[in-house]
Amino acid sequence: MAFPKIDPTTTQSWKKLLAHYQENKDTHLRELFALDADRGKKFSLLWNDFLVDFSKNRITGETLDLLLDLTDDVKLNEAISAYFQGDLINQTEGRAVLHTALRAKKGDKVLVDGENIVDEIYEVKEKMKSFSESVISGNRKGYTGKAFTDVVNIGIGGSDLGPVMVAEALKFYKNHLKTHFVSNVDGDHVHEILKELDPETTLFVIVSKTFTTQETLSNALTIKKWFLKKASEKDIAQHFVAVSTNLERIKEFGIADENVFPMWDWVGGRFSLWSAVGLSIALSVGYKNFDELLAGAHDMDMHFKEAPFSENIPVVLALLSVWYNNFFGAETEAIIPYTQYLSRFPAYLQQGIMESNGKSMDRAGSKVDYETGTIIWGEPGTNSQHAFFQLIHQGTKLIPTDFIGFKQSLYGDADHHNKLMANFFAQTEALMNGKTEVEVKKELQAQGLPEDQLKLLLPYKVFEGNKPTNTILIQKLTPKSLGSLIALYEHKIFVQGVIWNIFSYDQWGVELGKQLAKNILGDIENSEIGKHDSSTLNLLQFFKG
Ligand code: F6P
Repeated sequence: MAFPKIDPTTTQSWKKLLAHYQENKDTHLRELFALDADRGKKFSLLWNDFLVDFSKNRITGETLDLLLDLTDDVKLNEAISAYFQGDLINQTEGRAVLHTALRAKKGDKVLVDGENIVDEIYEVKEKMKSFSESVISGNRKGYTGKAFTDVVNIGIGGSDLGPVMVAEALKFYKNHLKTHFVSNVDGDHVHEILKELDPETTLFVIVSKTFTTQETLSNALTIKKWFLKKASEKDIAQHFVAVSTNLERIKEFGIADENVFPMWDWVGGRFSLWSAVGLSIALSVGYKNFDELLAGAHDMDMHFKEAPFSENIPVVLALLSVWYNNFFGAETEAIIPYTQYLSRFPAYLQQGIMESNGKSMDRAGSKVDYETGTIIWGEPGTNSQHAFFQLIHQGTKLIPTDFIGFKQSLYGDADHHNKLMANFFAQTEALMNGKTEVEVKKELQAQGLPEDQLKLLLPYKVFEGNKPTNTILIQKLTPKSLGSLIALYEHKIFVQGVIWNIFSYDQWGVELGKQLAKNILGDIENSEIGKHDSSTLNLLQFFKG
């Protein structure tokens, strides 16, 4: 099926949205809530153990209808079918995009080049299961006969951020194995980690889809050298495993055949934690929990595929994001999880969202003349409240924010959890309502402030409010709910890419820097510096001098 190529700005719904924006852009959320006592429920979606409240957005029923019309105009339905059935929607790389198949149920059918890939996926999953179980149980041992105590994931980008984010998020479910993540080519990163490790009891998982990534290969070689200071070549087989599509390069590195976990070119790096790239997750929390993570993602896949768009969480959140990005001119979105466990979630989504939708050529090969990918940032609440929330509340920029929270805490400390969640609810209420001049005046008068001081302070204490937020409230942070949450954002990315008429699954933009770094490495290592602009030349001379 052909992937639609429609400039969204030429559609009827877009034009209507523009007019609708002009008419409604100054309406305050306070007015909208005052007009409809049922607004909170009306603009909420209840799905499994998720409650997604999007009522604190600058929308009316009409806005939502027009945004839903946009999904018709850009043929979102067709695009979703193409996505799930494995059409080559990553057109610039000639590949399908099938991370959803990695969470398919046993017996499902997803065809790539006429072959059902689900069988092969399950073979690799079986291998991950038996491997992780043998390491966790201590049956698989290191070269001196000791059980493993530490696991090091060596990878970068999608081969690091997913595993590290999930391992951190599911720390509560962790077993005795200590997991470490080496990603940066900065040697200080790897050496700091090696300092803590004993080669006799450490397992290394090298993860690289291409097995050509400079950072990962450099780190893997440094670690191999360190390992060989104590162990011998033949011991590598017991301590090093690799996950990649590039079986030849793995062999060259000296990894034993039985230690190779294959992946496939129809899985994008930033969507790959569901594949063997998630091996360190399975090692850290056990295969059963890894499988639960996949099951949660599968549930979200089914919801995305089957729910009507008006009740479809990824679709609704994507449309709201388009509304602010393309009509209000909002450039960034904040993601604020109210759990310390999700501290790496914003960084993980930065790659997912910005590497996918940071594009400026449309699917027909022309430069877009509208905004595409949003800038993503965030940190956990409540810490972020004491850091950058001032700007969200009273700054000049409009920053739509997602609040993610859980009904239950994992250790069940009600005192802390109630305080945490009181902040969670208070922030979205404050961002929405703000504080009017009349309210501030009353407050200051009640404090008995003299009139001249009151006048002086008043403008600074007024909060405009009208700041849009989504609240994602989930029963409990479990492997399953985490899987659903991640998949929600994956599908949001997809919907936005379809609307913006861009290719979300390539990443050519990161290549130029890589190429130049190769040339500059030559300049650094050789005596002569090649041709550069005067700034780069000056910097290189200073560095080498
Ligand atoms: O930074 C570009 C990128 O290709 C990412 O998309 C990818 O996740 C990362 O590098 C790592 O690539 P690999 O898994 O091939 O080492």
